[in-house]
Amino acid sequence: MNPPSQHHTRRKESAFARVLKARRGKRGALIPLLQQSQGIFGYLPEDALTRIARALSLSPAEVYGVATFYGQFRLFPAGRHLITVCHGTACHVASAERISETIGRLLKINPGATTPDRRFTLQHVACLGCCSLSPVMMINADVYGRVAPAGIPAILERYR
Ligand code: FES
Repeated sequence: MNPPSQHHTRRKESAFARVLKARRGKRGALIPLLQQSQGIFGYLPEDALTRIARALSLSPAEVYGVATFYGQFRLFPAGRHLITVCHGTACHVASAERISETIGRLLKINPGATTPDRRFTLQHVACLGCCSLSPVMMINADVYGRVAPAGIPAILERYR
């Protein structure tokens, strides 16, 4: 039997091949395809960008330009824990900015960046779909609702 990591890599590769095939030739599908690819790999590897460009008949520079323009895309692997702060309308009204500022200050990183020890990556998204809990943030798959800046250090402590 193959080690789990190889198995994992193969599964990611076949999932990527499937989404690439489904959207081949559809130039307008660039952003959804980048989103799906990041969902599969956790970031956008250079090789994936090249293959996306080929599948959509775009130049690698165009694809790279879009991938670097939007803050939601990462060109490097995320840290061990991914912090996602919602900046959708409801969370914005509920002071999401203060959540991001607090995390940024504690970890000394900007959105889209990873701490030097690779412990955390911070990202912003538009809506996590649980607006009644605003302001909302997630760490990996854990959802934290009605987050108060003062409670953030204790939350971060749970993730080593
Ligand atoms: S706006 Fe934040 S969860 Fe919807």
